[in-house]
Amino acid sequence: MADEHVDKDRRRFLTGVTTGVGAAGVAAAAVPFVSSMTPSAKARAAGAPVLVDIGDLEPGKLLKIEWRGKPVWIIKRTQEMLDSLETVQDELADPDSDREQQPQYAQNATRSIEPEVLVLVGLCTHLGCSPLEKLKPGELDSDWQGGFFCPCHGSKFDLAGRVYKNVPAPTNLEVPPHRFLSDSRVEIGVDSVEEDLA
Ligand code: FES
Repeated sequence: MADEHVDKDRRRFLTGVTTGVGAAGVAAAAVPFVSSMTPSAKARAAGAPVLVDIGDLEPGKLLKIEWRGKPVWIIKRTQEMLDSLETVQDELADPDSDREQQPQYAQNATRSIEPEVLVLVGLCTHLGCSPLEKLKPGELDSDWQGGFFCPCHGSKFDLAGRVYKNVPAPTNLEVPPHRFLSDSRVEIGVDSVEEDLA
């Protein structure tokens, strides 16, 4: 919002400048302005937030979207899925999410704003493969409580994206900045804490 406001002011300012000088001045000034503004315009487009409607997302299911060219998963966890988080606690490398892989508002027992709704960047923190969803208990092996399995080198993550011990991935899956606009609408790429401070 603040950026849009600044951009509008800047555009108005630039329009005033260019209409206030002669045609030759416009031609001379146009090239530097265009070349200096293009990268930031591109960068804004590449990083634009994505609004996602999760109203139809059923409990136990995962929705995949793309943000900044990365896969982002939104998982609606059932109570059983949430209960599994505690049972695997001792097998995890960073169970309390002490390493910086999430915004502060997701550094909690469920790694999420709403307990049921988990948002993750779907890239393995080892070498960036996309892990497979193995959401159900027993889907990987008989002890499996549900989570994600990276087929490249065998890293395993639980249903909060927390990495297991003794696998190649060094950290939990990343939680991207996000916020809820309503019960069914999530905006990915906007951090509500930063917005509130702006
Ligand atoms: S990239 Fe996932 S384990 Fe290596």
